[in-house]
Amino acid sequence: MRLQKVVVAGGGVLGTQIGLMCAYVGKDVTFWLRSEGSIGRTKPKIERYCGLMLEDLLKAKALIGTPMGAYVYPKGLIRDWKSTTSETIDSLIEQAKKNFAEHVHIELDMAKAVADADVVIESMSEDPKAKIGVYEAMRDLLPEKTLLFTNSSTMLPSTFAEYTGRPEKYCAVHFANTIWKNNTAEIMGHAGTDPEVFKEAVAFADEINMIPLELHKEQPGYILNSMLVPFLSAAQALWATDVADVSTIDKTWELATGAPAGPFKILDIVGLETAYNINQMKPEAQIEGSVTNLLGKLLKEKIDKGETGVNAGKGFYDYSKK
Ligand SMILES: NC(=O)c1ccc[n+]([C@@H]2O[C@H](COP(=O)([O-])OP(=O)(O)OC[C@H]3O[C@@H](n4cnc5c(N)ncnc54)[C@H](O)[C@@H]3O)[C@@H](O)[C@H]2O)c1
Repeated sequence: MRLQKVVVAGGGVLGTQIGLMCAYVGKDVTFWLRSEGSIGRTKPKIERYCGLMLEDLLKAKALIGTPMGAYVYPKGLIRDWKSTTSETIDSLIEQAKKNFAEHVHIELDMAKAVADADVVIESMSEDPKAKIGVYEAMRDLLPEKTLLFTNSSTMLPSTFAEYTGRPEKYCAVHFANTIWKNNTAEIMGHAGTDPEVFKEAVAFADEINMIPLELHKEQPGYILNSMLVPFLSAAQALWATDVADVSTIDKTWELATGAPAGPFKILDIVGLETAYNINQMKPEAQIEGSVTNLLGKLLKEKIDKGETGVNAGKGFYDYSKK
């Protein structure tokens, strides 16, 4: 494994998960954080996600031999489900505990953190100024060999390539939340990414138990959100204009396509705040009388009532009673 020493810049929700996924498979991981305050916020996240990963491994024992097991097992934690036994899971748990204890480090000094990095994964807030600031601070500290990946969900690598000092070694590797279960890695270079570096990113994603999904060119929203956002918008427009109710729209999609969840079940998982934020980014959201404007108001009403999705117990559906 060439990319063995991993530095994660940013110890937020995704940064923590990415770092732990790398440690889980035995890579050496250093979280570079900017302040003592960040350490105070990141350490509990590390503990929480270690706990969740170990808990999901344990729960997977009960899935062995069940028809649903093959669909819902934690795919980032178990590579070969078919041959998995209770004993395999016990040894994965022991190995994970050891790896988390031995391979996870935190460093505030950027120069020390990156001194021998094979790869730096930038997973900082979706704030271009902050990302540029860190790329510029890092560019002269990185060894020649270091590859640089960004996990940005909405920004393109070409926006930042010139600030990195190594545009040919820079690309996006975009992970999904709860990486140990939803193990996709969308890999997207910019025009100046070296094809060999792109291949290394694909191999790296595979090594950390992700399914690499290769994009041939830059695309805002990558593959998933390029499909999901218009799909969910179309469903919400049908609801906002009262063409049909939520359960009828979901039922239509589920019965006609065989998909396990219709758009409103997906929206409840994504969260209505995210749906609202996406709605508000559209210029028509400010145009009184437009469908987008009406939808924004309807989503806001639900958010104000605390009906923000599965995590809140209620969204488009009620999850409080089982
Ligand atoms: N949350 C998701 O579901 C998700 C999914 C895929 C990708 N992403 C992407 O991952 C990245 C991080 O998202 P997140 O949800 O983990 O965010 P978050 O808010 O949980 O974490 C952001 C982290 O960046 C750090 N940070 C901010 N400014 C910094 C600076 N100037 N210097 C050093 N550190 C700084 C913060 O301290 C924090 O640890 C974003 O680019 C986002 O688009 C998020």
